[in-house]
Amino acid sequence: MDVPEELEITLTHKDNGGQYTVLPVVSAYLSDSFVSRFMQIVNEADILRLLEDEGISIQGRYTEKDARNFLAQSVDEWIHNRSRIFLITRDNAPVGCFAFKSCKDDAEIGYWIGGKHRGLGTDLLDSMLKLAPGLGYTQLQAITREDYTASRKILARNGFLEVDRYKKNGKKYLQHRWLDVSLQTNSASNGKLQKIKNLSRHLQRIR
Ligand SMILES: CC(C)(COP(=O)(O)OP(=O)(O)OC[C@H]1O[C@@H](n2cnc3c(N)ncnc32)[C@H](O)[C@@H]1OP(=O)(O)O)[C@@H](O)C(=O)NCCC(=O)NCCS
Repeated sequence: MDVPEELEITLTHKDNGGQYTVLPVVSAYLSDSFVSRFMQIVNEADILRLLEDEGISIQGRYTEKDARNFLAQSVDEWIHNRSRIFLITRDNAPVGCFAFKSCKDDAEIGYWIGGKHRGLGTDLLDSMLKLAPGLGYTQLQAITREDYTASRKILARNGFLEVDRYKKNGKKYLQHRWLDVSLQTNSASNGKLQKIKNLSRHLQRIR
């Protein structure tokens, strides 16, 4: 499948100077070793917890078959315009994942980075938000647990505002929203942004 080159980006780790490539799942070469490494990272405790939060049944361990299925499904979804999954790689090995979970505007995003590569998240999200308008997203949302501090930090640093909170299965969650700032000149978008800001202020007040 032909994928525009501009969807492949390079990131430099702010602490270790390492070079990372973020590329659409349809552009990645999903070799056996790639799938196996992907599985290992998902089995890190805080990433496994994300899957559990989403109600994905993995019976305590994410297997190579789970990884293969996820990657194959992500390719299929890209081809059929149902989601846009990107892989973060270093030296052609996976270190993380970033998802626009649907191809509709206002899609939810999700992401994780392997423990050894943390420090990249803020820049990763910044780059993905720069790609977002070209992929058809003028607004996006993210759901985090209240105790996911790193995730909340990178969202706040990239212009997401917390607009709602709720409890599910005894855990506290926050909803965050982002609007493409380049649209703020248009009065409809200005109205939407104002609404998001009002919701966020309201949430701060009732804390
Ligand atoms: C969320 C995630 C992608 C962010 O990537 P990252 O590389 O850690 O992001 P950054 O380092 O750019 O920013 C995270 C910030 O949170 C801070 N942080 C991390 N854990 C923290 C904690 N428990 N308490 C307080 N601050 C914390 C980091 O120090 C960093 O702040 P700094 O830049 O001021 O040092 C990554 O941490 C991750 O994959 N976590 C597990 C999966 C996850 O929670 N995904 C999101 C689901 S909503």
